Amino acid sequence: MANLSPRPASTAGMYDRVSRVIPAIEWPVFEPDIAAILALKRARNAVILAHNYQTPEIFHCVADIVGDSLALAREAMRVDADVIVLAGVHFMAETAKLLNPDMTVLIPDPAAGCSLAESITPADVRRLRDLHPGVPIVTYVNTSAAVKAESDICCTSGNARAIVESLGVPRVIMLPDEYLARNIARETAVDIITWNGTCEVHARFTAADIRQLRADHPGVVVLAHPECPPDVVLAADFAGSTAAMSDYVRDRQPARVVLVTECSMSDNVAVQHPNVDFIRPCNLCPHMKRITLGNIRAALEENRYEVTIDAAVAARARRAVERMLAV
Ligand code: 13P
Ligand code: SF4
Repeated sequence: MANLSPRPASTAGMYDRVSRVIPAIEWPVFEPDIAAILALKRARNAVILAHNYQTPEIFHCVADIVGDSLALAREAMRVDADVIVLAGVHFMAETAKLLNPDMTVLIPDPAAGCSLAESITPADVRRLRDLHPGVPIVTYVNTSAAVKAESDICCTSGNARAIVESLGVPRVIMLPDEYLARNIARETAVDIITWNGTCEVHARFTAADIRQLRADHPGVVVLAHPECPPDVVLAADFAGSTAAMSDYVRDRQPARVVLVTECSMSDNVAVQHPNVDFIRPCNLCPHMKRITLGNIRAALEENRYEVTIDAAVAARARRAVERMLAV
């Protein structure tokens, strides 16, 4: 039967942009929520920050600012709005709130967590500090505000080496991602003490997967996220944050590429590079996938779920994030 409902003017022409990654049959399901979100953003003077792992209908159709964790933190500082909706996971929403304490920051699903953030508590960090007196603690942004508050400085996958080296010391503690820490340790003379957290998405990739990919797709360029195990990173052609992977494809235009990371990343990058052939073995992040157009719309309609951080914790955590942004 023909669909006789009027097409919203605000979404006119939008489908053309995403037609390579969103099947035509799904578009009529997404379009009403997209139109409603665009109107709600105007009405509430809201901006949507979306991580590179968000699905294409969020990333390309409703987000105002997209990027890796570092870009989202940087951009969160510059936002001029009444409301931020963070389409990503909880630690990202907390980081946006730390940098905008007077702004309303909403996360569409507060259960959007992260295996790395879950892997360590503030008490663990205090114990490590007692165990290694005087050794600075570098905390990955993929942690709770309470863990950041116990640390000296934050880092992301995009700046981890620069942050470690900026401290000018022979030894640092780097939490909580063991693989990121070991991948950075290979690149620097600084001795790195690690914790045993891992990303449940990237930890599943193996060096055998990479060998198989190369055998199945001769000439493929392999880009891996540094949260992957060290042997996977060593087997890849390049390792970098989600933004660095995206920039690599933009600048080098490989004929055939595989992004060894979360699934939506390839969809989002593929939209901008029709000439690049993306091989797509990937692992889904169940936390990132909790965010949908439906709950973004509900977040703006019902002002939910507001991110709050205890003031004393926030002051200390903000210092660690701001020290990172100053490097
Ligand atoms: P980046 O986007 O900072 O590379 O981080 C990847 C990630 O896993 C975030 O959850
Ligand atoms: Fe956390 Fe990994 Fe998901 Fe990123 S991809 S949010 S690090 S579990």
